[in-house]
Amino acid sequence: MKCVKIVASLLLIGSISVNTQAQKPVYQDETRPIEERVEDALKRMTLEEKVAMCHAQSKFSSPGVPRLGIPENWATDGPHGIRPEVLWDEWDQAGWTNDSCIAFPALTCLAATWNKDMSLLYGRSIGEEARYRNKNILLGPGVNIYRTPLNGRNFEYMGEDPYLSSKMVVPYIQGVQENGVAACVKHFALNNQEVDRHTVNVVVDDRALYEIYLPAFKAAVQEGQAWAIMGAYNRYKDQWACQNQYLLNDILRGEWGFDGVVVSDWGGVNNTEQAIYHGLDMEFGSWTDGLGEGASNAYDYYYLANPFLKLLRSGEVKEEEVDKKVRNILRLAFRTTMDTKRPWGSFVTPEHAAAGRKIAEEGIVLLQNKNNTLPIDLNKVKKILVVGENAIKPMTVGGGSSSLKAKYEVSPLDGITERMGAQAEIVYARGYVGDPTSEYNGVKLKRDLHDSRSAAELIAEATTLAKDADMVIFIGGLNKSDNQDCEGNDRKHLELPYNQDKVITELYKANSNLVVVNISGNAVAMPWVNQVPAIVQTWYNGTESGTALASVLVGDVNPSGKLPFTFPVKIQDNPSSSFGEASYPGIDKVQEYKESIFVGYRWTDKEKIKPLFPFGYGLSYTTFQYGKVTADKKEVAADGNISFTVSVKNTGATDGAEIVQLYIRDVKSSLPRPVKELKGFEKIYLKAGEEKTVSFTIGKEALSFFDDKKHEWIAESGDFEALIGASATDIKSKVSFKLK
Ligand code: BGC
Repeated sequence: MKCVKIVASLLLIGSISVNTQAQKPVYQDETRPIEERVEDALKRMTLEEKVAMCHAQSKFSSPGVPRLGIPENWATDGPHGIRPEVLWDEWDQAGWTNDSCIAFPALTCLAATWNKDMSLLYGRSIGEEARYRNKNILLGPGVNIYRTPLNGRNFEYMGEDPYLSSKMVVPYIQGVQENGVAACVKHFALNNQEVDRHTVNVVVDDRALYEIYLPAFKAAVQEGQAWAIMGAYNRYKDQWACQNQYLLNDILRGEWGFDGVVVSDWGGVNNTEQAIYHGLDMEFGSWTDGLGEGASNAYDYYYLANPFLKLLRSGEVKEEEVDKKVRNILRLAFRTTMDTKRPWGSFVTPEHAAAGRKIAEEGIVLLQNKNNTLPIDLNKVKKILVVGENAIKPMTVGGGSSSLKAKYEVSPLDGITERMGAQAEIVYARGYVGDPTSEYNGVKLKRDLHDSRSAAELIAEATTLAKDADMVIFIGGLNKSDNQDCEGNDRKHLELPYNQDKVITELYKANSNLVVVNISGNAVAMPWVNQVPAIVQTWYNGTESGTALASVLVGDVNPSGKLPFTFPVKIQDNPSSSFGEASYPGIDKVQEYKESIFVGYRWTDKEKIKPLFPFGYGLSYTTFQYGKVTADKKEVAADGNISFTVSVKNTGATDGAEIVQLYIRDVKSSLPRPVKELKGFEKIYLKAGEEKTVSFTIGKEALSFFDDKKHEWIAESGDFEALIGASATDIKSKVSFKLK
């Protein structure tokens, strides 16, 4: 009797509704629509509880509502593996012994696979690792466009083309989120360089914004249904991107209907007022040493903490403003931590290692292969000299926030020795010393890379050994140190660092049977390109990097990756470097993207510049023959579709895969347009001798440009061409059609 009375009186408190049937509050009832649950939870919360949810409580977590059983949020980098646990208030790792992850290949490698199935596999695998580690926000993937090869963080992104990155980002997100973990797509937007990243104000016209820099984010939100997005550090229209009316309120929420949570980049919030009104939900990383600032809890002093609470209490800011944020944060909870049906995840499994290896194998790009130098014929090659620091340098540590503590990492030298050591003698020479330090946030490497010999001594050793070898494999490139492929700064030049060009040239003189393997997340200059017979582009490929490289070198795997960005011959051939400092890296913290929409191959096409290696390029150990492309109609209606079909045959003796690319050219338009733009691609697997047809269907969207005056996408009637290519400069055939 008493019990009944208590329940009855509880039912009367305020407007809080109780689902009497399930005896559960509505917000906890998973059979109820998410928006009802959001409103119900919101009603139960105090102002203090609401504000607490809007900012961090530690380096990577934010509070839930303990009183209501709403869990904390735990974020983790991202995007290539699950970062080790860090101390509550610091970047340094906490020293746990159960947090060593599988390191997956860098996103440049994923983009180089041009394979959406690989992206799904990647997302699922990393999502399972995040889930197992009890994280509900994965800080990735990154889809900032590759504007300049000098950007220190290009390795974390998916290349220069908005269509390629849009298609590749979606399955990654879906795979992550299947695990009840939010993908937090970053860095929104215009964070295309590291120089002055906290301050630079990016001036970009609307055409470039909508046609180049936003599409991958839009696809992430609308097709991938991403539950979280991270603001960028830089400014746009004089407002920081994390508190930006135009980017967050007008575009992300207004135009695209984003209903997820906007997370600041760590330390990306700069004042309270804009953080309140301009679309941000959660503030992270504003000061790094939370307990050492003299306050009892520095997190209370975040822009969206006490200062926000004060304004709400005084009535200067309406409660509706915090409610807007909390709704998004609650939605995140119901999608992740409070979804009781989400899977449990798994960690450091053989399946995850195999996934990383498969992605790496598909992403490695064969750039040059004169005289069929590769694959290595172990019947003939009995002594292999491996030269170069990158053959032994672990690359999962360093580079900034994507740095990992990997359970293991197979180096290229170990991979080669493991795969080929039984049939050939493998000898190693250092060749050059780059950066022997290998420590990041307390994760230290066991291997000591220090070597005190002079450059001349190192070259002398390598060339002497080269003379005596059947083949030389130079493994160099960039690394994750400052001013290379690393967060916080850009590269200083396009050239390889540490005297590597000299080492390569000398090696070639000593033994012309030379393979150069470049490990990087960026294009590099290759002044020796006309001598060296074989060149392989590989990436920061994580745990199984050496295994994957060895299988490609020896031909267990036929290379099938293609470049997701253009390799220019020299830095002046890159558009961002073609307009002086005002365009890159900016003057007095202002930077104008003067090349507008002409980024990557759009620039080299327009200016008729021959790249070192073009976008979409990559060789195979087999050969492919393309038929002539046909269209299913000559004229397409404004609301109709048109299909193009082409046959591709594997004309070699080896099974392999080809990435068939569709580019569209608007023959005449009222506004300047690129010569052509990627609007379709398909990776097809062909047995030796096999032939398949590939079809692409496109509609108005693929024919449109963004009219900045009208602020809308326009497809102008008239003549178009569909071009089928094996790369941006290798167009096999084309067909004309009209848009009515
Ligand atoms: C980076 C983000 C990262 C965050 C947390 C920032 O410095 O820009 O990409 O997710 O730190 O580590």
